[in-house]
Amino acid sequence: MMIAIDGPAASGKGTLAKRIADHFGFACLDTGLLYRAVARDVAARGEALEDEAAGARAAETLELATLDDPELRSPSAGEAASVVAKLPAVRKALLDLQRTFAAREPGAVLDGRDIGTVVCPDADIKIFVTADLGVRAGRRYEELRRRGDPVTLAEVTEVLRLRDERDRSRAEAPMRPADDAILLDTTDLDIEAAFDAAVGLIMRRIARQG
Ligand code: DC
Repeated sequence: MMIAIDGPAASGKGTLAKRIADHFGFACLDTGLLYRAVARDVAARGEALEDEAAGARAAETLELATLDDPELRSPSAGEAASVVAKLPAVRKALLDLQRTFAAREPGAVLDGRDIGTVVCPDADIKIFVTADLGVRAGRRYEELRRRGDPVTLAEVTEVLRLRDERDRSRAEAPMRPADDAILLDTTDLDIEAAFDAAVGLIMRRIARQG
């Protein structure tokens, strides 16, 4: 069973992916972390984030054991990831790894921007998680404030808006719902309600597939 979860930044897709994976006993891969780690490694080698050959080298030599680096969760790491994610050679170098993970038995949940469209076009279930920009920014702002980050809500909103715009408008694997994705709008849902809604959608899809 392959479950693809895509959506914009701070839509709650990562939390949802983990909850679904735990619920069904599946493996879970946050593919955003791959791009975040590639950007980190490119910068650590003193190379430019826009340098496609440098990005591809970093992607090819990526150490999966370094994905639990807490620094990768920072807003600046997300921003840098979005820049390297535009580069076709970087995306290509990360494809096999993601597809191998997606084939894990008894199942795998992958979350990102292009899982349902490019990485796993044959996924059994595709969910595209959305939420209004203001709601997403508010959630991210609260999270950062709890961590002691002195950002303002206006700054968080603008950073998310620009990142979504970059992810949506790039030529290679832009963020968009697959034609057969189920849209899940979490604007008015907390994580419990979003999780219940997603499990309901998955169970109905499974029942229909027999
Ligand atoms: O999901 P995230 O915020 O950790 O992702 C960080 C960036 O990585 C995101 O802005 C775009 C890129 N990304 C991507 O292009 N494709 C994916 N499947 C996952 C992330």
